[in-house]
Amino acid sequence: MDTIAVLDFGSQTAQLIGRRIRECGVYAEILAGTEPIPESLVSEIRGIVLSGSPASVHEPESPRIHPSILELGVPVLGICYGLQQIVDAAGGRVSRAERREYGRSRLHLRQDHPLFNNVPDGFVSWMSHGDSLAELPADFVLIAESEHGLPAAVRNADSSIVGIQFHPEVSHCEYGTQILENFATGICKARQSWSMEQYVDTARTNIQSTAGEGSVLVLISGGVDSTVVAALILSALRKSQVHLMYVDTGLMRAGETEEVSTTLEQLGAEHVHIIDAKERFYDALEGKPDPEEKRRIIGDLFISIQQEELAARKIGEGFLAQGTLYTDMIESGKGVGKYAKVIKSHHNVRSPLVQKKRDDGLLIEPLSWLYKDEVRDLGRVLGLPEHVVGRHPFPGPGLAVRILGSVTPERVRVLQAADRIYIDELHKRKLYDRIWQAFCVLLPISSVGVAGDDRAYGGVVALRAVVSVDGMTADVYPFESRDILEISARITNEVPEVGRVVYDVSSKPPATIEWE
Ligand code: XMP
Repeated sequence: MDTIAVLDFGSQTAQLIGRRIRECGVYAEILAGTEPIPESLVSEIRGIVLSGSPASVHEPESPRIHPSILELGVPVLGICYGLQQIVDAAGGRVSRAERREYGRSRLHLRQDHPLFNNVPDGFVSWMSHGDSLAELPADFVLIAESEHGLPAAVRNADSSIVGIQFHPEVSHCEYGTQILENFATGICKARQSWSMEQYVDTARTNIQSTAGEGSVLVLISGGVDSTVVAALILSALRKSQVHLMYVDTGLMRAGETEEVSTTLEQLGAEHVHIIDAKERFYDALEGKPDPEEKRRIIGDLFISIQQEELAARKIGEGFLAQGTLYTDMIESGKGVGKYAKVIKSHHNVRSPLVQKKRDDGLLIEPLSWLYKDEVRDLGRVLGLPEHVVGRHPFPGPGLAVRILGSVTPERVRVLQAADRIYIDELHKRKLYDRIWQAFCVLLPISSVGVAGDDRAYGGVVALRAVVSVDGMTADVYPFESRDILEISARITNEVPEVGRVVYDVSSKPPATIEWE
């Protein structure tokens, strides 16, 4: 299939570039920019995009494109650092800009170029760079300038290389998808043969050829990603080959374990292993208020229970399939390139079982370059019901990171009760699908109130609701005040332990989505 290779030099947005190109119907694959293109792909590549990077061309260790890639003879588009490394290599000069450009900048087109077909002069681009082009290489020509007069787009003599200083992939960049489409279909002439149905076919074929007759274990978390992986694996292999394992940590949302069982049954799974480990988690968490310690306890216990159960049931021998998304990998510093900065570790990436399977070539991760909403589309193509594919993300450590301070079975029960009402109200008010993630947080304090004629001392619940594309950044959902007041009243009326409800109005950054 005609493919655009997106070469990752450690950018947080390399995957987003790929995703935007796929939105135009052209298949895009993310590859490490510092290594040659795999032999099996070379004949499919119609064009190359070089991603940005936190690095600067002035750093001695900065990542550089593997020379063999430029010999493929296909058009190249450099974005930000991608542009700067081309200019640096071609004899131009990149320098620390006197004026750094961050955020919106109007661009002025200085020359007609197919990259800007159907894009008006003066459109608003999105900049994020400290280095700038100080001098173009001899055969390069300026195509566009930023509102501060800095070079914003250039090309070489025959236009086989174009470079842009701004980021067309981010949603704030006007005409960004149009510019990437102009490159992929106009300049590279790549055919628009990508679709989710076609992706499912390819993923099934890959799973069949990887797993053969071997057994495949899928660890189910209750979330969208692992459920979609389970559905995909079950649709690709014989049901008797597939084992699904779910550990009930006692830190799940109300009714979640029952819902998971029902969904797996509906998928026709033959081997479902549901492990009730609530008491072990509650015992281990008793008297442990520190957030990092709670995460560590949960991660470690999860791993030991997994190992014990797999050994006891003799099901851990073959392949392991899991729903790791690219954003999980990149947040753990395990993106395609090795230069992405580590933001935080997710336990599905660091588990010894996963590491061993990865080392032994027994790991199947069919979602690892998809975004959450693409995973949802994939689930729909596989026929999963809307309430399953539309579910908000849920963190691995579960409600433990939403119960600030020590976790007790009683506090879990109170939080589940409040959260159930909140989510139920969002569904009733048709707000659930407009929100990326909504949940209650139980605070480690009590507050004074009145119940009847008596003074009461009750718990405090914070409501969180954010909109986001991938969880990396998030804005607060702007509720109508009437909705939030009615939801709050229902929680305090129906959950006697809660005396006060507050609304969290912090975006990410500077706050994170979860409170711990
Ligand atoms: P933060 O709180 O970092 O969350 O803004 C971003 C997204 O990641 C989820 N999250 C986690 N998911 N294990 C997970 O699998 C974790 O330890 C974890 N911590 C946060 C969070 O719910 C949000 O969607």
